Amino acid sequence: MLRGQQVTKRFGGLTALNRVDFAIEPGQIVGLIGPNGSGKTTLFNVITGFYRPEEGRILFDGHDITGARPHIVARMGIGRTFQIVQPFQNMTALENVEIGVLYGQGLSHGSESQARAQELLDLVGLGHQRHTPVRNFTLAEKKRLEIARALSVRPRLLLLDEVFAGLNPGEVKQAIELIFHIRRELGLTLLIVEHVLGALRDTCERVIVLNYGQKIAEGPPEEVFNHPEVIAAYLGSNETH
Ligand SMILES: Nc1ncnc2c1ncn2[C@@H]1O[C@H](COP(=O)(O)OP(=O)(O)OP(=O)(O)O)[C@@H](O)[C@H]1O
Ligand SMILES: [Mg+2]
Repeated sequence: MLRGQQVTKRFGGLTALNRVDFAIEPGQIVGLIGPNGSGKTTLFNVITGFYRPEEGRILFDGHDITGARPHIVARMGIGRTFQIVQPFQNMTALENVEIGVLYGQGLSHGSESQARAQELLDLVGLGHQRHTPVRNFTLAEKKRLEIARALSVRPRLLLLDEVFAGLNPGEVKQAIELIFHIRRELGLTLLIVEHVLGALRDTCERVIVLNYGQKIAEGPPEEVFNHPEVIAAYLGSNETH
């Protein structure tokens, strides 16, 4: 479904992604981990067209989408959340999701777009707060809203960037259940960036590890978490999460 070949992204003298190869099959849940600054968000930005890689290619369903603009990538079926959530604070939850429905699915404003936004809020458990201005939401609620916004473009592939970060253990458990629920309901394929490794152990069948922009390991969570190079990468960094 998604394939990266030798993906390289540089910022001046810094190589944020260095010849990264990866592949995600339809229906899989794949984790993407690595210490702070290892290139995880940059990979999301390259996949979704926010950055064009200097080298390499990104293929989605066999189509070359390297360097395609973000709105084109979204309409092709790739949704994403942002590590730092940036909802429209003064708009309601419903309005925030409806914007995605309007621009992502090309509907015009009306009962159909509102109903679709409402369905998505129900799916993430925020249905009853549809008229609440988002500035009043807790972080956990904003993370749920971020998922609903990502789903508003009707993606087949969903990229989640640290949706568990900052949540307490109870909220993490609920968020994991939510992700399984969404996957079942919508039949999504998922790529999940996460520092809460326990959450990945319970959700992913395969984990990819980046360190200084290079892929250093890939495989089932238990195997990868015990890989000496992965342990060294994590212990060698000033991991604060
Ligand atoms: N727009 C940018 N301009 C310059 N450097 C950047 C830019 N975006 C990212 N970088 C650098 O690229 C490297 C990878 O950053 P990235 O945000 O992808 O890491 P990450 O793995 O998502 O880290 P974290 O776990 O802290 O979110 C870092 O050294 C970062 O400072
Ligand atoms: Mg990041």
